[in-house]
Amino acid sequence: MYRTEDIVTEYGIAREELNRFLENSAIPMVNEEEISAKYFQSVLAFIENKEDRIQNKLKGEVADFNKDGNRVTIYQDDAISFLKKLPSNSVDIIATDPAYSGMNNKLQLGQGRIVGKYKEKGKENGKWFSEFEDSEENYAKFLTECKRVLKKSTGHIYIMFDSYSLLSLGNVVRDYFDVKNLITWDKVNIGMGHYFRRRHEYIVFATNDNTRKIKNRKFPDVWRFKRIHNSAYPTQKPVEVFQAMIHASAEKGFTVCDPFLGSGSSAIAAIKNNCRFVGCDISDKSIETSTKRISEFLNNSTDIIQKKSMAVEENIFWE
Ligand SMILES: C[S@@+](CC[C@H](N)C(=O)[O-])C[C@H]1O[C@@H](n2cnc3c(N)ncnc32)[C@H](O)[C@@H]1O
Repeated sequence: MYRTEDIVTEYGIAREELNRFLENSAIPMVNEEEISAKYFQSVLAFIENKEDRIQNKLKGEVADFNKDGNRVTIYQDDAISFLKKLPSNSVDIIATDPAYSGMNNKLQLGQGRIVGKYKEKGKENGKWFSEFEDSEENYAKFLTECKRVLKKSTGHIYIMFDSYSLLSLGNVVRDYFDVKNLITWDKVNIGMGHYFRRRHEYIVFATNDNTRKIKNRKFPDVWRFKRIHNSAYPTQKPVEVFQAMIHASAEKGFTVCDPFLGSGSSAIAAIKNNCRFVGCDISDKSIETSTKRISEFLNNSTDIIQKKSMAVEENIFWE
């Protein structure tokens, strides 16, 4: 028997790529993680044949970094379409921050829309990035795909919500996952708002089918990390927010997925936790920003768009 984990380590093939090949070729798994000697030869042939591997790539793949065991693959695609192309049961953690349209469309703040300062000439509706239509129907399609790609027995999912989208869509998560907690991200400094100025966002934490625990029982459900001012990318989140999620749930070599990549904060957090990463975003700006950022981080250990930590007190998560 050949363990897929050993094949990934020994032959330097991305787990997603191997999984895709196994699924496309209908190669049976033994004990969920192993391949029999009979099929191992065709796996080897596939690994050695570059042409086939190129064919096997997902449409839309724009970058594939592999440095010191850190594998990061980025696609430019719509989130649901991207998830549909990933093999079932192939991702350990989803940590994501969707671009909900609700808050932006319904709550007009100050001079205009929340992302108004990012307004650029020529962009649709004057918005700097596309939004994810947050109807229940669309959200259900998204969650269906998240559930399929997330590992059945061990998968964890973290989904960020602003207060508007939490009230309209948060409950739908329960139809798909076992919701374990609602985490509050306290941004420490106040933001905009006519009726109590906003200082927080939410993160729904849930498991897939099972009760795999987080790393440590001492982690609280209120997280204090400062918001990023004058960010290089609209709605850029501190890497520490994603680091807390991934640190709590990951083991070395896990695959983390973010279908709303933005500036790539979740990818940087995954690398810091020695995890593989697969993510996508629909926008040119995101792909440009995130691939440059990830490449610099892998090559020079420098985060070019978040230069300092946003943690405000002794960090109980990973120090
Ligand atoms: C809230 S931002 C993510 C910010 C990110 N967490 C960060 O720290 O930089 C949401 C992202 O979703 C992207 N997006 C919007 N609609 C999308 C869609 N249908 N599929 C994939 N990405 C989409 C936007 O381009 C935007 O970059």
